[in-house]
Amino acid sequence: MRIKIAPSILSADFARLGEQVQEAVDAGVEYIHVDVMDGHFVPNLSFGALVVEAVKPITKAAEVVLDVHLMIERPEALIPDFIRAGADNITVHVETCPHLHRTVHQIKEGGIRAGVTLNPATPLSTLEEILSEVDLVLVMSVNPGFGGQSFIPNSTQKLAKLRRMLDERGLTHVEIEVDGGISVENAAEVTEAGATILVAGSAIFNDRSSIAENINTLRLAIT
Ligand code: DX5
Ligand code: ZN
Repeated sequence: MRIKIAPSILSADFARLGEQVQEAVDAGVEYIHVDVMDGHFVPNLSFGALVVEAVKPITKAAEVVLDVHLMIERPEALIPDFIRAGADNITVHVETCPHLHRTVHQIKEGGIRAGVTLNPATPLSTLEEILSEVDLVLVMSVNPGFGGQSFIPNSTQKLAKLRRMLDERGLTHVEIEVDGGISVENAAEVTEAGATILVAGSAIFNDRSSIAENINTLRLAIT
């Protein structure tokens, strides 16, 4: 499966959000990743469906996937708003969903792709009964809540184990997304372990180089 790069706009300059999303899209990314935080499930607040709606025209024109990562309690209450706003993928945390099967189907019935996300300490065994229903699995490689944290090394083994679980079940179409602390240092390692979507925030939006240069550097690390 082709490897996709998903810049996380959490690390963007919000005063120039449209411009920076456009720069990432022009540099050829396949996804734009939107981190939605509620100050309850994670200790930080970010943004909601209005921001998804604001960047949608840019991603739509370039046929880039708008990937919404919900780090919120009771996601089922807000999923309709994010679908209306233009999300192409929505992932929910298994830790927030007592009725995960229902929530996954709520997303799919909205006509978009559904994913489930695991915190670093949540075992892959929690996916056993839902794997055949999802389009993607997002493996957190930091504890969610903030950009710019360090990659948790054990995540690589978890990705490899998930790839084996999917292969054993013939679910080779399911994407594996990795999120947190991704950089040129570990991009090759996580893709070799089986990740097909790499989320990167601070490695792409920073003052060291331009957004396009950072995307190209990351791409070179995995080719
Ligand atoms: C963390 C978010 C990530 C984060 C990634 O809670 O889900 O998407 O923005 O940022 P970096 O790449 O800086 O770890
Ligand atoms: Zn994220």
